[in-house]
Amino acid sequence: LFAVGFTGIAATTLGVIILGVLALVIGALLVLPMSGGDMPVVVALLNAYSGLAVVFVGFAMIGAIPILGKVLIVVGAFVTATGFVLTRLTSKALNRSLLGVVSGGLTTRFDKLKLAAEYEYFREAQPVDVAHACRNAREVIVVPGFGMAASQAHHAVKDVYDTLSGIGVHVRFAIHPVAGRMPGHMNVLLAEADIPYNRMFSLDEINRDFVTTNVVLVIGGNDIVNPAANDDQSSPLYGMQTLNVHEAHRVYVVKRSLAPGYAGVRNPLFEHERTQMVFGDARQVLNELLKELSREEVMR
Ligand code: TAP
Repeated sequence: LFAVGFTGIAATTLGVIILGVLALVIGALLVLPMSGGDMPVVVALLNAYSGLAVVFVGFAMIGAIPILGKVLIVVGAFVTATGFVLTRLTSKALNRSLLGVVSGGLTTRFDKLKLAAEYEYFREAQPVDVAHACRNAREVIVVPGFGMAASQAHHAVKDVYDTLSGIGVHVRFAIHPVAGRMPGHMNVLLAEADIPYNRMFSLDEINRDFVTTNVVLVIGGNDIVNPAANDDQSSPLYGMQTLNVHEAHRVYVVKRSLAPGYAGVRNPLFEHERTQMVFGDARQVLNELLKELSREEVMR
């Protein structure tokens, strides 16, 4: 009996291991065909699948511990439903069909250094130039991206907002639906820094206003301001609506290098005639910008 019991446990363990390996392979095969630009949809979809897994665990447990099984089914169904709603909203924001994302081409590997070296013409500016342009602007739009989160620059962004608002510059924030690495990433950070909600605008609300904006400050953003998404059919981002910052009178892009963003694609914005690159860590650059703004104030 002992021997039969032991064999049973061994067989169950083996079964669990085989199932685990199979699940790993299926998971990898499911995600591999999706391109980097579609990743927000993938994240939301996997979130929905995790809820589905909880539902199945609930069904498996309902015989042994009914109350726990029922709780798991309800919670799992809730996660699945919200996950699918989020998937739908994200694929709509990226202008992708869910089927197209799931059956997309194999993800291309990219070489950051090679892509960065591809830029032939770009102009560089210093924080002092940005301070001067902002001070003389009527309308400034700040576009936060993943780099703002990476350098924890949101409090410095708030200080810049306060300083500029204090001298009568109208400052607003343009939030792309997939900026950063999770839904609402930028909204949460800006709210944490006490930036008023009525100054934050979604892509649809603000995209037409860039054309009349004097200065745009892109803080650690890249894919969300890539104009190739609108007009270059060969770009993996093609079809995703991006913020039309290139339509503004002047654009300053704050990032450390010419390296690509999450999707690993070239960004023609960096070579646009109205764009100037401000190289450096976002928080450091913003702190220097603040110093320059207060220095100009003293000199007046
Ligand atoms: P990205 O395109 O990833 O660009 C972020 C840029 O920030 C990078 O090019 C990087 O350039 C710069 N950066 C990094 N650390 C920095 C620092 N300390 N200081 C200054 N700059 C810094 O970000 P995005 O424009 O926000 O777009 C989001 C991307 O993530 C999209 O492709 C989106 O599809 C994807 N995504 C989004 C989600 C959700 S739901 N939001 C989920 C998964 C994927 P340097 O290295 O040159 O500094």
